[in-house]
Amino acid sequence: MDFELDETAVMVRDSAREIATKEIVPRAASIDREGRIPPEVLLLLAKNTMMTLAVPEELGGADVGVVAYSAALSEIAKACASTAVTMSVTNMVAEVITTFGTDAQKKRYVPKIADGTLRAGSFALSEPEAGSDPGAMRTTAKKDGDHWVIDGAKQWITSGDFAGVFVVWARTGGAGTRGISCFLVEQGEKGLSIGHHEDKMGLRGSSTVALHFEGVRVPESALLGELNGGFKIAMMALDGGRIGIASQAIGIAEAALAAAVEYAKERKTFGKPIADHQAIQWMIADARTELDAARLLTYRAAYLKQTKQMFSSQAAMAKLYATEAAGRICDRALQIHGGYGYVKEYDVERYYRDVRVTRIYEGTSEIQRVVIGRSVLG
Ligand code: CAA
Repeated sequence: MDFELDETAVMVRDSAREIATKEIVPRAASIDREGRIPPEVLLLLAKNTMMTLAVPEELGGADVGVVAYSAALSEIAKACASTAVTMSVTNMVAEVITTFGTDAQKKRYVPKIADGTLRAGSFALSEPEAGSDPGAMRTTAKKDGDHWVIDGAKQWITSGDFAGVFVVWARTGGAGTRGISCFLVEQGEKGLSIGHHEDKMGLRGSSTVALHFEGVRVPESALLGELNGGFKIAMMALDGGRIGIASQAIGIAEAALAAAVEYAKERKTFGKPIADHQAIQWMIADARTELDAARLLTYRAAYLKQTKQMFSSQAAMAKLYATEAAGRICDRALQIHGGYGYVKEYDVERYYRDVRVTRIYEGTSEIQRVVIGRSVLG
């Protein structure tokens, strides 16, 4: 058993750390305040292969594997969680197209995600009344000659207002999970409109929008994977996506812990730095321990995916544990800052808001427990 990152993963992690430190950290507070990621930040990530880390080189990807991807994503999340989720979903979209696409689909979209032309990819699965239960979706795609016509609404769509390509799920058959197909839809398609922008508690730099499909016509060639086989594509993509969100949560918590340690060494009460009080030391010790456990679970899931082994329940465990631990760590980090943690002057206030959603999106903690429970019980 080897607990060290290999040379490639170290290189990719360090490169992400450099971009994060030089280019993203200085902008993170304004990304949060202004509610938008400057396009040049996303382009910079793409130019450094960060949007397609686990995608083959012939499609423009870096092909460095899932462990390196996880390490890199945590570095970006340490700097800015909003940028990290945009990177995570875009990598997920590029991988879905790479895995399930025809040659023509791969060539049409993946190199343009890789070089930043498409800016981001969007994953349009959830609906106003189908979040945890996507098998209940209502959006439909009906055949009309050699086209599909999509009608319906999607909600909570990350980067939906500027992504160049959407992976869209729609009902093409009967009720339930076996009547759903997956389509590739381009931004600007007639009948596709951007709805409400969510005014979120955290991750304010990442855009989250509703999408409306009114008679959106796409050619037969837009079908991704098999007809009525879309639900499994969503599940497989989310298995990988959950490694991304676990990695994101780890990055946010690493940043919160680092801020807490720095503050604890400087701030004095009762004549000594608060780091000298056992109450604070215990909070920091618990945080470090939980973070290491989260990291190991996440690397295990990433390694299993990278080596093409079953990883669904391991990804769910990583996401469940990492996101819940990260929530506790950000809470402790804020507590260590006292009143200063509750004001925007200190970054820990942002970490606390940003981390909360990691327990909700790409499958709530409750859904992760369903996946793990089913796997244990058979
Ligand atoms: N891999 C491959 N196939 C899978 C699978 C997996 N991980 N999980 C399930 N399947 C298959 C099953 O084998 C089954 O196949 P058959 O039809 O051949 O029998 C089929 O899919 C249906 O499976 P279930 O009966 O288990 O489906 P279910 O309706 O009970 O749902 C669930 C299972 C795990 C709860 C699933 O609904 C789920 O993951 N829900 C959460 C959805 C989610 O995570 N949404 C996130 C939105 S995206 C997002 O947040 C992105 C963003 O922008 C940040």
